[in-house]
Amino acid sequence: MSTLPAGEIDHVAIAVHDLDEACARYVELLGARIGLREEVAEQGVEVAFLHLPGETKIELISPMDKAGAVARFLEKRGEGLHHVCVRVANIDAALQSVIDAEVPHIDSRPRIGAGGARIAFLHPRALGGVLLELKEVAP
Ligand code: CO
Repeated sequence: MSTLPAGEIDHVAIAVHDLDEACARYVELLGARIGLREEVAEQGVEVAFLHLPGETKIELISPMDKAGAVARFLEKRGEGLHHVCVRVANIDAALQSVIDAEVPHIDSRPRIGAGGARIAFLHPRALGGVLLELKEVAP
């Protein structure tokens, strides 16, 4: 029995400086279709979801100001992979398992992410340096 039975990868997220320019590049290069685009004020970022065939998505994430975790990420590491998001059926149960197993995590309770989804982040220490987002999606 695993600590955290994960579902499909919902999206991978890439931090970029210029969201408009990055969207245009991904559309041009991959034929991606731009879906939801919104500001997530709580995290100080603007995000755009690019749809590839099937349910595969790439999230482009760009800071709205110089504060905040994504701005610091860009400053320190430059543009690149920011997080991987896997689906979980019940995020409350998933987080409780994570806490019980003492897996390094950033969120102890779910927060509201883009599109109103209930999400939470595990610490990159837990997964080889990659930030992992959990997203509740009803099975
Ligand atoms: Co995400």
